Amino acid sequence: MIKGVIFDLDGVIVSTDEYHYQAWKQLADEEGIEFDREINNQLRGVSRIESLKIILKKSTKTYSDEKIYDLAERKNKFYRVSLESLDERELLPGALEIITSLKTKKIPMAIASSSKNAKTILKKIKLTETFDVVTDGTDVTETKPDPQIFLIAAERLSIAPAECLVVEDSEAGIEAAKRAGMKYLGIGTINSLPNAEYRVKNLSEISVDKLLSL
Ligand code: BG6
Ligand code: MG
Repeated sequence: MIKGVIFDLDGVIVSTDEYHYQAWKQLADEEGIEFDREINNQLRGVSRIESLKIILKKSTKTYSDEKIYDLAERKNKFYRVSLESLDERELLPGALEIITSLKTKKIPMAIASSSKNAKTILKKIKLTETFDVVTDGTDVTETKPDPQIFLIAAERLSIAPAECLVVEDSEAGIEAAKRAGMKYLGIGTINSLPNAEYRVKNLSEISVDKLLSL
């Protein structure tokens, strides 16, 4: 039985996944590195530094740790500019409805996002107070697909992993949920989430009762 729901943030609740893509694209273009939406899909759910390392595989140059850090900072500056105008209009279809229904049913909810910008985003979309627990990129040493972030969220919710449901748009996140021993719902398509047995295009396609019976 599902007693708690753990949501990823970027690409599940809010369309900041597109902002990440635009910021990485700007960085890659400036550095002359090949980058497209297919490569971008591999970055979903993965920490900033690990994402950059995936992008740099397409470069012929070698980068020092200092340079890698500078590039990651530069990307984050581009990204944070796009966050300035973020508001509730960027919520993804069905997200607010599901969250509101879960709240009415008194189901504990957590955010488990790899992002170090998660708290800023929650403030911008006015959902800071909605979640019982917020776990983000500042809480972990390992990035998804490691299950660490979900296990921390479950512990903070005081709910056993097997009684938690994860809602995720990334392959890394689905893998992490499986490794954590949790149930999951994928948000995406057969192309973006080939390994997600349970999947919808967005949260408007599922009722709260169905979600809780997965
Ligand atoms: C995840 C995104 O939520 O956060 C990734 O899916 C992103 O694309 C990661 O790289 C880290 O985000 P940030 O905001 O700390 O750079
Ligand atoms: Mg995501």
